Amino acid sequence: MTTEQKVHADKDGVATTGRDVLRVTDERTGQDYELEITDGTVRASDLRQIKVSEDDFGLMSYDPAFLNTASCRSAVTWIDGDKGELWYRGIPIEQLCDQSSYLEVAYLLIYGELPTTSQLEAWIFDITHHTYVHENIKKFVEGFRYDAHPMGMLLATVGALSTFYPDAKHIKDPEERYLATIRMIAKMPTLAAFAYRHNLGLPYIYPDNDLDYPGNFLSMMFKMTELKYEPDPRLARALDVLWILHADHEQNCSTNAVRGVGSSQVDPYSAVAAGVAALYGPLHGGANEEVLRMLDRIGTTDNIPDFLEGVKERKERLMGFGHRVYKNYDPRARIIKKHVDEVFEVTGRNPKLDIAVELEKRALDDEYFTSRKLYPNVDFYSGLIYEALSLPTAMFTVMFAIPRTSGWMSQWLEMVDDPEQKIARPRQIYTGGGPRDYVPIEQRS
Ligand code: ACO
Repeated sequence: MTTEQKVHADKDGVATTGRDVLRVTDERTGQDYELEITDGTVRASDLRQIKVSEDDFGLMSYDPAFLNTASCRSAVTWIDGDKGELWYRGIPIEQLCDQSSYLEVAYLLIYGELPTTSQLEAWIFDITHHTYVHENIKKFVEGFRYDAHPMGMLLATVGALSTFYPDAKHIKDPEERYLATIRMIAKMPTLAAFAYRHNLGLPYIYPDNDLDYPGNFLSMMFKMTELKYEPDPRLARALDVLWILHADHEQNCSTNAVRGVGSSQVDPYSAVAAGVAALYGPLHGGANEEVLRMLDRIGTTDNIPDFLEGVKERKERLMGFGHRVYKNYDPRARIIKKHVDEVFEVTGRNPKLDIAVELEKRALDDEYFTSRKLYPNVDFYSGLIYEALSLPTAMFTVMFAIPRTSGWMSQWLEMVDDPEQKIARPRQIYTGGGPRDYVPIEQRS
């Protein structure tokens, strides 16, 4: 493939012809083709015109794991991995964490604009008044074994919600879409807290409408005999910031699952259940758990040099470091680090923080990590906060799923209105044999 001859420089100093075209020569046939370039992409379906004969299906692109394929157009989240930038609807994550709340960010993700005061009040009112779940959902949770993984319980209960709200299948109806969005964001903390209490054999705590979104979650998790649970505002704020940071991250594994399943036009509860299932996997939502196991194994700061040698010899992996997209400091890690101290002021200092800080310092001073552009990611410090909140490690991924719900719903809403989207249906390269005849079982050797 050759691009058009370079004749002049564009704004970044790269020489271009001004024609957004990719010229391709198929050496099999000697034929030339021109493929239009739009937004830095060529359309994979444009390759189909490239054929060796009339009955040839046409050229396809092969991209396992979507390493270099844009599957949609999206205006929700922007990531610049080299600069370490993350924006929701164009607003840098740092500003949102400093000045906004998780529910306001959820509104921004869903609607694309920050709400006015009255819009925000109505939004919070609606979410606060949809936090209860049907009593049969409670019975459903009671049916799990005492040691059921909370992510497994969350996955099942989110899927079950679709049976309680069958009208959600009318996905073209704006009222139904709104209700599903509100319900999903409102009920996720309730379902998560029920799963946690179930593991402990404690009675489930109903939502408290006097509390804000993170405060209510802390109440549903930790309320015991007191008449009114009073959340520590510093813990509630730290949780709210963590939830802002995890609300969306463009086309990752779970978001792709929500879009892929949602493309069949199933109801949004079922589509989001697919997202929860994808997040459950250790390569996606589970890394913060691994960071704590690693810090436990290291034990003291004296053992850090030996540990890092082990990483360089590839006997270990430095968990919470490195990212497929960020080749610079993950902006979310920087923000979380600021909040760790605030949480420890309330809960008491966790000695693992000293190990984490020293580990980060040494790794960032080490050519092995800097040359590979390995920096702390969002998971390096988030597990320390969850542990300080007395959460068992099995709950860490659940803590990720709660805020990601607003991201999944924003992406789902964008997808159902996108005229270019159809049911997701990839192609394959067939590697099997055939055709061959069926052999009756008695004739098989
Ligand atoms: N520790 C040690 N070496 C690492 C690490 C790490 N954490 N991450 C990458 N490397 C090395 C690789 O061995 C490779 O070295 P090489 O070129 O000498 O072979 C080089 O850095 C490039 O790494 P890749 O594996 O190609 O990077 P990729 O983009 O495929 O992986 C990933 C990204 C999976 C996040 C990886 O960095 C990793 O495993 N990190 C630890 C797990 C983790 O923290 N995951 C959370 C990510 S954030 C999130 O999902 C919310």
